[in-house]
Amino acid sequence: MAEKAFKYVILGGGVAAGYAAREFANQGVNPGELAILSKEAVAPYERPALSKAYLFPEGTARLPGFHVCVGSGGERLLPEWYTEKGISLILNTEVVKADLASKTLTSAAGETFKYQILIIATGSTTIRLSDFGVQGADAKNIFYLREIDDADKLVEVIKAKKNGKALVVGGGYIGLELSAALRINNIDVSMVYPEPWCMPRLFTADLAGFYEGYYANKGIKIIKGTVATGFGTNENGEVTDVKLKDGRVMEADIVVVGVGGRPLTKLFKGQVEEEKGGIKTDGFFKTSVPDVYAVGDVATFPMKLYNEMRRVEHVDHARKSAEQAVKAIFTSEQGNSIEEYDYLPYFYSRAFDLSWQFYGDNVGDSVFFGDGNPTSPTHKFGSYWIKDWEGRWCIFGEWYSRRKQGNCQSCKGSASSPQFGSASHRGRHLCL
Ligand code: FDA
Ligand code: NAD
Repeated sequence: MAEKAFKYVILGGGVAAGYAAREFANQGVNPGELAILSKEAVAPYERPALSKAYLFPEGTARLPGFHVCVGSGGERLLPEWYTEKGISLILNTEVVKADLASKTLTSAAGETFKYQILIIATGSTTIRLSDFGVQGADAKNIFYLREIDDADKLVEVIKAKKNGKALVVGGGYIGLELSAALRINNIDVSMVYPEPWCMPRLFTADLAGFYEGYYANKGIKIIKGTVATGFGTNENGEVTDVKLKDGRVMEADIVVVGVGGRPLTKLFKGQVEEEKGGIKTDGFFKTSVPDVYAVGDVATFPMKLYNEMRRVEHVDHARKSAEQAVKAIFTSEQGNSIEEYDYLPYFYSRAFDLSWQFYGDNVGDSVFFGDGNPTSPTHKFGSYWIKDWEGRWCIFGEWYSRRKQGNCQSCKGSASSPQFGSASHRGRHLCL
C-alpha cells in the first residue's frame, strides 16, 4: 500500500477538525500540506444539528446545509472548499493504529499516513448498554446517536414506526433533545433515567422541575429512579418491550439510548499522558508528545478561570480549542507565541420551543429567578451559582445565615455585627 505524507494531519473529521481547517487556511497553509482523516463519509459538519433539526418533520436540516462553520456564523465549508485550498479530505478512513514515535497512522484498509505535526480530534463515542451487560441490548431498533449515519437510521425508523412507541433511556442531553424530536414526530414517548431529576450534572431541581413539567404537558411520560435491565424482542429480533429494574415492563417499537459519552483516546493509550479520561494538554493544546496536539472532546486542558484541568464535551470549546491549537502551531513556527487558552465554558441546548444557554460553572449555592411554571405562557427563568464567600458578603433574603464568617466589604460588618441582617441589608446584594 502506498504511503502518504503530510506536514499536518488532523485525525478525526468532526467539529474541531472543520474549525481547525478554517484556521489553517486563515494562517496561509500551503496546498498539499494538510490532510484530514475521517471515518465518516462526509466533510466536517455541525454535529448539534443531528439531535435537533435533522430529525424534525418540518424545517428539516440536511447536508450541505450544516457543514462547518455555519454554527458560529461563518462561511460554510463545502467539500469543494477543501479542494480549492489544497487540503486533502480523506473520508471513509478509520485509523486503527497510531504510532506516535514514528509519526505514522495506519488505516483499517492498511494505508499509512506520515505527518510532521498531528492534531488529535477524534471526539467521543457513545457508551452502550452492552457495556453494562444489559440483556438483549443488541436487539434491532435500539439506537444511539453520535454521527450522521446514526441520525439517518433514526430518520428511517421514525418513518417506519409512524405513531409508534419509543422509550428513551437517559435523562441527559441526548435524552431530552431526542425525546422532544420524537414527540414532534408524533411518537408516543417515555423517558427513563436513574436520577431524581433530568440533566443532573447541570440542572438544579428547580430547572429540572420546569423541564419535566413541560415535557409531561407535551405528553411525554417520565420514569425516574430506575434503569433498563433487559429487552424483549419479536421473531425478527426487533425490540418490543423494555424491562425496568423496578419490575415495570414498557412496550416500545423504538429505543433511543443516551447514557453518556467516552472520549476516543484508545489509539494513543500508553503513548501520551492522560488526565481525567482525556489526553492531557497545555493551554496551547500541546500534548506530552512533541508535535502532537489534542483538541475538542478528547483534550483535558488547563481551565485558567478555575485553575483546574478539565475536559469539555461541547461544541463551542471544540471550535475554539481547534482554532487555538492551529494558531499556536503557526506562531511557534514563526518563533512567536500566543496567549494561553482562557476559556469561559459555554453550552446550550434546544428542545421543543425551549432553549437555554449556560456560562461558567454550576458549583456552590444556586439561586433561581423568574417564572419557572411549565404551564405559564410567559415562562422565562434563570439560575446562577455562588461559590466561595470568604471575605465577601452577599445577602439574598435570609441566605446570609449559611455563609462563612467574613466581613462585608461594603459595610465592613461581620455576621455577628448587629447591623448584619438588618432591614437595610436584608434582600440586598451587597457585594460580589
Ligand atoms: P466530533 O465527535 O465532532 O468529531 C470526531 C470525529 O473523529 C468524527 O468525525 C469521527 O468519526 C472521527 N474519528 C474518531 N475516531 C476516528 C478514527 N480512529 N479514525 C478516523 N476518524 C475518527 N454541544 C453543544 O454545545 N450544544 C449542542 O446542542 C450539542 N448537540 C450535540 C448533539 C449530538 C447528537 C452530539 C453527538 C453532540 C452534541 N454536542 C453539542 C456536543 C458537540 O457536538 C461535541 O462536543 C463536538 O462535536 C466535539 O467535537 P470534536 O471534533 O472533538 O468531536
Ligand atoms: P449525558 O452525560 O448528558 O447524560 C447521560 C445520562 O444518562 C445521565 O444523565 C443519566 O440520566 C443517564 N444514565 C446513565 N446511566 C444510565 C442507565 N444505566 N440507564 C438509564 N440512564 C442512564 O450524555 P448523553 O446525553 O448521552 O450525551 C452524550 C454526549 O453528547 C455528551 O458528550 C454530551 O455533551 C453530548 N451532547 C451534547 C448536547 C448539548 O450540549 N446540547 C446535545 C447532545 C449531546
